[in-house]
Amino acid sequence: MKHKLEVDYNAARGFLADREVNDAFAKSIKALEVLEGREGRGNEFLGWLDLPSETDETLLSRIEGVARRWQNGIDVVVIIGIGGSYLGSKAALDALTHHFDLYLEKSSSPKIVFAGQNLSEDYLSELMELLSAKSAAAVVISKSGTTTEPAVAFRIIKQHFEEKYGKEESARRIVAVTDESRGALRKLSEMEGYETFIIPDNVGGRFSVLTPVGLIPVAVAGYDIRAMLEGARDMQKRSSEHSENNPAVAYAAIRNALYSSGKKIEIIVNYNPKLQYVAEWWKQLYGESEGKENKGIFPASVNFTSDLHSMGQYIQEGERHIFETVISVEKPNRSLSIANDPKNLDGLNFLSGKSIDECNKMAELGTRIAHVDGGVPNMRIILPEINEYNIGSLFYFFEKACGISAYMLDVNPFDQPGVEDYKVNMFALLGKPGFEEKAKELRARSL
Ligand code: PA5
Repeated sequence: MKHKLEVDYNAARGFLADREVNDAFAKSIKALEVLEGREGRGNEFLGWLDLPSETDETLLSRIEGVARRWQNGIDVVVIIGIGGSYLGSKAALDALTHHFDLYLEKSSSPKIVFAGQNLSEDYLSELMELLSAKSAAAVVISKSGTTTEPAVAFRIIKQHFEEKYGKEESARRIVAVTDESRGALRKLSEMEGYETFIIPDNVGGRFSVLTPVGLIPVAVAGYDIRAMLEGARDMQKRSSEHSENNPAVAYAAIRNALYSSGKKIEIIVNYNPKLQYVAEWWKQLYGESEGKENKGIFPASVNFTSDLHSMGQYIQEGERHIFETVISVEKPNRSLSIANDPKNLDGLNFLSGKSIDECNKMAELGTRIAHVDGGVPNMRIILPEINEYNIGSLFYFFEKACGISAYMLDVNPFDQPGVEDYKVNMFALLGKPGFEEKAKELRARSL
């Protein structure tokens, strides 16, 4: 039996009355029943619940086939996507990849870069310089197939591929992940003969990391997607338990109890820079799922110990409307300890023989105690170590807890009506046909 992800909320309990904790657990278990009974709001988007147990061998083999095909002769694979079509794979890859992978020639797998996640001319121009110099392939990911940022990036990259490799070879170097039947990307892929993978209708973007959206980039980079799904599958079982031992129930219960007590901001903390994009993925998941109808915990993140030197002051002594959730990794994948120095000019010989991780752990413990003393409730999500299994487990854990938590808040976790407003304005300002009136109205306004 593998050592598993755990939630530790001891350092949050002291901020809550027993009654608040008991009520929150009762509500959390009720919300889990609604979620799994498929009786809640947005229940047409619950396909993600079963992904770990239902992803079949045919799909896995096809994904691994793409990875094998690009193992030889491809230096760089561009993953094109934004939001839910980007953050999950970025999170998994940053967590699993050597920090300095781009400068090393260690693995036989292609290097992964991203596009379509911004509209920066400099970013895209510099990426095109890289693609001109390297042998490249691309995975274009868009459920709707119409999102502006990835569509713009793909148009440029596709043209570049066709000029450089010719149409036929380009088609072998492009894979599309999109809706089964609708959208411009589906149509274009069929016309150009790209290999395509489906994002199921009943899985929303921010819940799609365990579909080909996340699995293809992870496999192409050379990581074990079967282990990732196994971790998610084990969490699928554990997070179905209708009890306080269910880690997703516990996390949802305590964060909602803290929210009701006035703690409106949750800061996800890591002590390991490889987890920075797990926090970015988490922010989208929770922000888009809960932030509506004038409700929702504001999701924020910090990277410690770096940000102790920037955000530490506010967290220790600023407005007391925050709580922290630390993703605490028990065991590093490597070891390095601090040597003795006979001259001891820096005065650090008291650290001789200690590992860097021990220093990091003491920084974590010392900070948690200081922040709790300063009035900041603290939870920990304990990960045994960073690997495919635990990252899969963490993804599923956060998704399940998000569904439960949003139902506790009585909002629909699976829509995002507020994301559309900026798009309408942008299209109007860029002169998209059909938006002429809106453009006039916006131009008459000044900000
Ligand atoms: O969670 C969501 O639904 C969004 O973040 C989408 O994933 C994002 O807008 C990208 O959409 P699409 O995959 O349709 O290009």
